[in-house]
Amino acid sequence: MVKLLAPSILAGDWWNIGEQIEACIRGGADLIHFDVMDGHFVPNITVGPEILSHIRKRVSLPIDAHLMIENPDRYIPEFVKAGADWVSVHIENVPHIHRTLSFIRELGAKAGVVINPGTSLSAIEEALHYADYVLLMSVNPGFSGQRFIERSLERLVLLRDMRDRLNSDCLIEIDGGIKEENIASVVRAGADVVVVGSGIFASEDPEGQTRKLKELIFS
Ligand code: DX5
Ligand code: ZN
Repeated sequence: MVKLLAPSILAGDWWNIGEQIEACIRGGADLIHFDVMDGHFVPNITVGPEILSHIRKRVSLPIDAHLMIENPDRYIPEFVKAGADWVSVHIENVPHIHRTLSFIRELGAKAGVVINPGTSLSAIEEALHYADYVLLMSVNPGFSGQRFIERSLERLVLLRDMRDRLNSDCLIEIDGGIKEENIASVVRAGADVVVVGSGIFASEDPEGQTRKLKELIFS
């Protein structure tokens, strides 16, 4: 059974981002979640491939690039070249999801399809046959530090059932508002990969907090 913890470094202290990433790694992080926002698809602007490549040079854990940008096809090769191992795109703005996920795989990365809280799960049913992972948003994308949308727990169960029914082996990742209070319940409901931003970096001790969350994942 895979259970992975992915710190979302967007919520980190960017003056000391290298140190903060190292703290998460010492605490047992499994992959680094890298949120890319363009100010168009979502109302916030973050980082791009250039910054990712600097992290790649120092970090051997897989980097999970979550693309919240318009026209992601245009930028996917740059992200893979910069060192992203996992690349996910939103179903809400990708018209040819089979083409885009196949493209990511051809470039040698794991391909993920992301779904927003307001989008029916049926929109990604077909993609479960060829995605490596589904990223279920449990907040509306754009910012870290938002409150977990409770309905996401039911959606996790429905998604897991859908995956089993289709005999798909794609992983289920969840992102947004996960803290020590609810991490065990999202894992119980079906999450294989858990993204945590402010639930790690709001702490004075990101290493200890990562370790605690890892224990809760397996509790
Ligand atoms: C939201 C991002 C999330 C977010 C997670 O658009 O995709 O990855 O940074 O942060 P928390 O855990 O604070 O909700
Ligand atoms: Zn994210």
